[in-house]
Amino acid sequence: MFAFVSLMVLAYAQLVSTENLNTTGYPSRVRSIFLLAGQSNMSGRGGVMNGTWDGVVPLECQPKPSKVLRLSAGLSWMEAQEPLHRDIDVNATCGIGPGMVFANSLLNLNPRIGVIGLVPCAVGSRMGTKISEWGRGTYLYNQLLRRAEAAAALQAGGRFRIRALLWYQGESDTNNPQDASLYKMRLERFFTNLRADLRLPELPIIQVALASGQGPYIDAVRQAQFGVHLRNVKIIDAKGLPMEPDNLHLSSPAQVQLGDKFAHAFAATG
Ligand SMILES: *[C@@H]1O[C@H](CO)[C@@H](O)[C@H](O)[C@H]1NC(C)=O
Ligand SMILES: *[C@@H]1O[C@H](CO)[C@@H](O)[C@H](O)[C@H]1NC(C)=O
Ligand SMILES: *[C@@H]1O[C@H](CO)[C@@H](O)[C@H](O)[C@H]1NC(C)=O
Ligand SMILES: *[C@@H]1O[C@H](CO)[C@@H](O)[C@H](O)[C@H]1NC(C)=O
Repeated sequence: MFAFVSLMVLAYAQLVSTENLNTTGYPSRVRSIFLLAGQSNMSGRGGVMNGTWDGVVPLECQPKPSKVLRLSAGLSWMEAQEPLHRDIDVNATCGIGPGMVFANSLLNLNPRIGVIGLVPCAVGSRMGTKISEWGRGTYLYNQLLRRAEAAAALQAGGRFRIRALLWYQGESDTNNPQDASLYKMRLERFFTNLRADLRLPELPIIQVALASGQGPYIDAVRQAQFGVHLRNVKIIDAKGLPMEPDNLHLSSPAQVQLGDKFAHAFAATG
């Protein structure tokens, strides 16, 4: 009996390590689904220099086969490996983001969280994405919704397996005063619409407060982010995290810190 079980575990481990894993056979493995959305710093540019990723994966971002999965662009679960957004943010070179660290750190904080399924949906592309590009009905919004629903549909327990949205965006809204002043309204509407469309009105959301941005209206956007007073929306701060030499993106060590902050913030939601 024990040998048989070991064999099954081995067979599963081999299945999981295959790219484009077809999960039809074990739909209820993933216990906790997390949606990752926003722009380049969520997608991940740690270790990217001149359009090339250096391939360095920090210890904290190493894969945990069979414990951390990611939903591929083709909507199947596969072993999660950096760069998490490589088949989603396809017009940019992706590197280290906060997602893997988040999952590994959360497993340490709360081993009972079970198998984690990460659903990468952030798109930074070359120019970044503004909050207006994430409004209901847009390409990015629809993709996020479609991927969230697909991930939930693969699991017994359905959409209640979706535990939180991790959101890091706003840098592209710091360029002009109109975008900055409309930011709070657009952000709240985005959160509210997404919760309604997922039929998860209490879905926990953890957002990141910008440290700086692409334009001069950083403080206005930060204020808007801190001004969101919807239930179950938490904020963590990117201020003080180290940047890449391009001075535009968070470095891999910064992403390790940020992913850990995400995990602590989520663990504190109880
Ligand atoms: C996944 O596997 C099931 C059962 O083996 C099969 O019916 C289905 O077509 C497969 N799906 C894909 C996308 O390969
Ligand atoms: C990146 O490009 C700049 C300007 O072309 C160059 O000075 C620098 O050496 C390059 N860095 C790497 C790591 O290739
Ligand atoms: C990538 O670029 C192509 C061509 O400009 C565009 O059609 C597509 O929407 C872009 N995809 C993403 C994810 O940015
Ligand atoms: C990445 O995040 C940092 C910290 O918030 C910010 O200064 C930077 O502008 C962001 N980069 C981009 C390209 O959005």
